[in-house]
Amino acid sequence: MIKLLLVASLLFVSAATAQDEPEECVRASTSSPLDNDKTPQFIVMSFDDSATNLVYEEFYKNIFNGRSNPDGNPIKATFLIPHEYTDYEVVNRLYNEGHEIGVHSITKKAEAAYWQSSSVENLVDEFKGQKEIISKFANIPEDHIRVVRTPHLQLAGDKSFEAYKRSGLDIDSSWPALSKTKLFPYNLKCKSNAQCSIGECPEESYDEMWVVPINNIKGVNDIECNTLFACQMNLTQPELSQWLLREFKSAAANKSPFSLLVNSAWFTIYPDALAALQAFIDEVLDEGNTYFVSHSELVEWAKNPVEAANFETVAEPRSAECEINNICPLDFEEFGTRYMKSCVKCPPKYPWLGNPQGLME
Ligand SMILES: *[C@@H]1O[C@H](CO)[C@@H](O)[C@H](O)[C@H]1NC(C)=O
Repeated sequence: MIKLLLVASLLFVSAATAQDEPEECVRASTSSPLDNDKTPQFIVMSFDDSATNLVYEEFYKNIFNGRSNPDGNPIKATFLIPHEYTDYEVVNRLYNEGHEIGVHSITKKAEAAYWQSSSVENLVDEFKGQKEIISKFANIPEDHIRVVRTPHLQLAGDKSFEAYKRSGLDIDSSWPALSKTKLFPYNLKCKSNAQCSIGECPEESYDEMWVVPINNIKGVNDIECNTLFACQMNLTQPELSQWLLREFKSAAANKSPFSLLVNSAWFTIYPDALAALQAFIDEVLDEGNTYFVSHSELVEWAKNPVEAANFETVAEPRSAECEINNICPLDFEEFGTRYMKSCVKCPPKYPWLGNPQGLME
């Protein structure tokens, strides 16, 4: 009888907690789910420029080729792909090299107001449309495309997350955290407790959605910044490498993942930036306990936090071949002709909002 009562009251307690906080709700936190000394140190590098052969040859190749994580697998990054001027043969190449391919948008429009005032339907056209374009023309399985970054990090609260959900995208990479509160990945199974410094926060919960926070760093005059370009550090190569190391150590203080948002404009405006980034990467890899991982790899770790001693990156073989290497001259209405590199047969029209397959309407 006593035993039964005890079971009943335990059940009551767990039911009550479950109601307040759905199971597996992972809140935004500056603390690792493991002890700090058992937490692997991660670096999440990401790019959101149009993928062209020029940026591949000049920058991407020089950043990645030949560099390995402590487990011997190649280091990797996440490429959030906008449609305009992207060469889908290059996207296919990045994918086969082991990088993660995600969605930026079709238009990448420059106006913040466009992203904030868009309807959910228009955001779905932007994100789901771009997922379809990447999958079709770079020949990448749709279920491997999970990450999304809203252009200019202009989150529009629930509209953005509803659009992500309808687009089959379950990892956001648009949500900054201040440099003094660097966060671990969190999910939206319960309403988020994270602050929004740029866009608007969602109010609802989203069952399958994870956020890989963009942890801000400090740039010139200690300004809060997240893209390396926006940090405006105009320094010599050794000084730039020292700066990156300083910011990395600041993330390592609570073992939070170090966010590195790299634009090709950073390399073109600051000529020493590429060599500085390379030297930085080599230095942290030499220390032997830091992993360059993709967004989905980091989320899988957050779902099931493995101690540093047992952590390994994923190196699944990939064989999404380009069937053909086509340069497609495509009619783009009043904008004239666009030349799109495609891994499959050329579509009749330039893929765009509302017509991601580029079909004849
Ligand atoms: C960087 O500093 C140099 C030397 O002071 C200056 O000539 C150059 O214009 C600066 N570049 C940028 C992008 O601020």
